[in-house]
Amino acid sequence: MRIRKARKEMTTRETFSNLIDLDSYSPDEWNMIVELAQQIQKNPALYRSRCSGKIMGTLFYEPSTRTQMSFQTAMLRLGGTIIGFDNPSTSSVSKGENIKDTTKIVSSYADILVMRNPYEGSAKAAALTADCPVVNAGDGGHLHPTQTLTDMLTLKNEKGRLDHLKIGLCGDLRYGRTVHSQLKALSRYEGNEFILISTPELALPSYIKDVLNARGCTYKEIYSLDEAITGESLDMLYMTRIQKERFSSEEEYNRQKDVFRLDTEKMKKAPKDMIVMHPLPRVDEIAMDVDDDPRAMYFTQAKNGMFVRMALIISVLEGRLGAPKLLTGTIKDDVECTNPKCITKTEHYLPHSFKVQGDICECEYCDERILLD
Ligand code: NCD
Repeated sequence: MRIRKARKEMTTRETFSNLIDLDSYSPDEWNMIVELAQQIQKNPALYRSRCSGKIMGTLFYEPSTRTQMSFQTAMLRLGGTIIGFDNPSTSSVSKGENIKDTTKIVSSYADILVMRNPYEGSAKAAALTADCPVVNAGDGGHLHPTQTLTDMLTLKNEKGRLDHLKIGLCGDLRYGRTVHSQLKALSRYEGNEFILISTPELALPSYIKDVLNARGCTYKEIYSLDEAITGESLDMLYMTRIQKERFSSEEEYNRQKDVFRLDTEKMKKAPKDMIVMHPLPRVDEIAMDVDDDPRAMYFTQAKNGMFVRMALIISVLEGRLGAPKLLTGTIKDDVECTNPKCITKTEHYLPHSFKVQGDICECEYCDERILLD
């Protein structure tokens, strides 16, 4: 009975300006964040005490350099302060504390929470019970919306637009959360075309392809990076790392690594104005000497991450974004999500919420589709 009451609260209570998936906001709202980031970039001193007195909690259950530190510096450069952990083994998580309790407590100390966790849908789960806004800094192989804002700022700065772009995405399109978030967002702008370069094993998940199809987006799946570079007149090439930690075995990873490598020879054949982006960290998919090519934009992109996160923190804390509902589907506790990495597999108190279409249930945490029999 008590559990039922707690669950009801999760689905009905007032929510905050959480950023779990960019799709909860409109392209106008994304543009507002990107434009604010451009203003901050021009004159950061103006924003020095914008968030003075505010506290950001960073809960990183998975390794991170750029996302975590850019969030932290963003808050510090706005005059706020930070608390948190970057290694769950030094927090009560190591004693078996669930996400609900950890986020409930830290959200009563902080004004905004930033969370990265290996389970898909984890940020949404945290937001269901947190007492302040939650930002998804990566939920397993699912989504990474603030990397997409970073990518958008870089495209806007370097290409001057977010529409009518031909974008090649190369590498691990299956587990690469940065790719999923970017495709979901950029497919909302007119005239963007995507060249998806991967092995068949690391192809884009079907639920993201369905998004592209539903939005009438042109995309092509190819296997050869060379072909994409020489034949497709790309405006931007997005290289990604093969996500070793998401493979079920070392052998499977070994079969996929080193397939795609961008080097100076390939760059000689690439369009003169094709910028190269990468969310980083790089392993060996981009040769180090490509760094000297003026089209290599990944270090600039990483720095942009700080400005866009400053803009996001301001937008969230100053109430410039709405407060979209977290669960809008149907609760079906008798249906189990079939994705072993779904957050409902470890946080058993969560309501099993699905978008139901005929006999297909789409998990509202991880987007997995379950066929009812
Ligand atoms: C990415 C991530 O964590 O998904 N890194 C990042 O946040 N900049 C990409 C990756 O780990 O390969």
